[in-house]
Amino acid sequence: MADSRDEPLVLGIETSCDETGVGVVRGTTLLADAVASSVDEHARFGGVVPEVASRAHLEAMVPTIQRALKDAGVSAKDLDGIAVTAGPGLAGALLVGVSAAKAYAYALGKPLYGVNHLASHICVDQLEHGSLPEPTMALLVSGGHSSLLLSTDITSDVRPLGSTIDDAAGEAFDKIARVLNLGFPGGPVIDRYAREGDPEAIAFPRGLTGPRDAAYDFSFSGLKTSVARWIEAKRAAGEDVPVRDVAASFQEAVVDVLTRKAVRACKDEGVEHLMIGGGVAANTRLRALAQERCEKAGIRLRVPRPKLCTDNGAMVAALGAEMVARNRAASDLGLSADSSLPVTEPHVPGAHAHAHDHDHVHEVSKDNLYS
Ligand code: KG4
Ligand code: ZN
Repeated sequence: MADSRDEPLVLGIETSCDETGVGVVRGTTLLADAVASSVDEHARFGGVVPEVASRAHLEAMVPTIQRALKDAGVSAKDLDGIAVTAGPGLAGALLVGVSAAKAYAYALGKPLYGVNHLASHICVDQLEHGSLPEPTMALLVSGGHSSLLLSTDITSDVRPLGSTIDDAAGEAFDKIARVLNLGFPGGPVIDRYAREGDPEAIAFPRGLTGPRDAAYDFSFSGLKTSVARWIEAKRAAGEDVPVRDVAASFQEAVVDVLTRKAVRACKDEGVEHLMIGGGVAANTRLRALAQERCEKAGIRLRVPRPKLCTDNGAMVAALGAEMVARNRAASDLGLSADSSLPVTEPHVPGAHAHAHDHDHVHEVSKDNLYS
């Protein structure tokens, strides 16, 4: 077996949303995962405020890089590359990470790898379960995205099969939590309440599951409205809202659709491995139902631990290390942040020429988070 020291040592920087993440990996081994979050600063707004996030990244950037290097027990001069999320995400937030990565790459004389946030969410699973099988189906569900992606090579070929046409899955959790006065972010608290509720108490609608609907797209806004109306009607009648049953029934509607479509995509495409990533992958019911349905369908399920599912720098480092291992071209110092970088571009080699058509890629932008 090759000495693991032969594997690339890469530092990854992630600032696409409200987490300042810096990770260090050697190949598929996680060495450090430092995260500074500004989530508390956004809580009173019920969503991420881009300007607040950018300022927080700026303050956290250097200390978080230093902490990651210290945690990893490595020196910056030993790095084989510096990877950074080039997009998609909040433009101002991305810019802080890209600028920092360029400055470090230039000062240290190291290759720079601008990588795709969504591809990083998939690649992170290598740190938990070893090399990604090819092909792998990925269900990415977070506050900013809900996509089904087919990856045959995480450094060069990631194909979007479907995505949400309105709210992201995590956004739906956050909005329903707000209606129930449970605070922000809503996912973890709904998950907790749902454990004591009846998922069949209320039959909420399953979006886009009709025979003529797009097989792999998602829609959560109808569900959200339906849950909000149901709660309003209870309140108007002067009745108590059964929070646990509402949480469980709402959550069931979301994870039923997510898992059904993911398994269907695997079957249709003949793919035997499904990975689930993004903040919503922390959901206990999603994990359980996915496991159950995958087992029935003969699909192997890979879900990284929750800390690797939410935005972090280790996932960026993991993809950067893969770029180095597969000899992908480094980015040049003209690298720019691209808030709607399409998932079909796992990395941004050379000067980024903005050749793609932005009209096709709104589903992966996080610009609509602040609503
Ligand atoms: O990946 P992430 O940290 O950031 C984004 O890229 O958005 O995901 C955050 C989202 C939030 O919407 C949050 O409510 C949701 O993930 N989330 C969950 C759970 N934990 C976090 N949703 C459902 N169940 C959970 N246990
Ligand atoms: Zn994310």
